[in-house]
Amino acid sequence: MAKENIIVKILRYNPEKDKKPFWKKYDLEVDDDSTILDILNEIHWNIDGTLAYRRSCRSSICGSCAMKVNGQNVLACKTPMHKFKGNKLKIEPLPGFSILKDLVVDMDGFFEKMKRIKPYLILDKPIPDKEFIQKPDEFECIRESAICILCGACTSSCPSLWANEDYLGPAALLKAYRFIFDTRDDGKDERIDIINDKNGIWRCHTIFNCMEACPKDIKITEYLSRLKVKVLENSI
Ligand code: FES
Repeated sequence: MAKENIIVKILRYNPEKDKKPFWKKYDLEVDDDSTILDILNEIHWNIDGTLAYRRSCRSSICGSCAMKVNGQNVLACKTPMHKFKGNKLKIEPLPGFSILKDLVVDMDGFFEKMKRIKPYLILDKPIPDKEFIQKPDEFECIRESAICILCGACTSSCPSLWANEDYLGPAALLKAYRFIFDTRDDGKDERIDIINDKNGIWRCHTIFNCMEACPKDIKITEYLSRLKVKVLENSI
């Protein structure tokens, strides 16, 4: 396997010690097929053990390794270094969240918003003995929205959220879509009341940043537009 020399600048910050975030530079040699996560592991394991970052599955499933690399929100474990031209990388924590340490951000507010839209089936009818039957086209309507891994890349890239941190944001609204359009769910009215709020769906200005940032290529903006139509239809 070929090796390459790269220069990595990482935004470091330890709130217990540092007055403000600062850039730290690392020169290292890595395999040429390394992902961003491989590079962070190499730094953490062999160069600087004080570097903090989140990762778990290494398979773009757990959503824990989202960060900003050369200006783009990406999943570190899914992104090969050669996605970026040249041998220089600038790695920062997800914007729009407060930094706990280095690349680790505080996701509490993100998950609070997720909870607010009640991310589970709400049922008036009895639970069936075996399973809920759903037709293929009914499932297709929510299939893509259901693969969200809650990494926060979309929410972090949303200018509406940068302007108003109380805005529910694209990830929570996508989750609302996933249940409002689920034919098994009986909580549509309840959820629509929650998102039809000054900090809800109408703060989405169809900017498309969320769609560009999504590492799962979910058409988030399109689903939020359908959600707006649903809220309007519901109010007529
Ligand atoms: Fe799980 Fe990257 S480590 S998504």
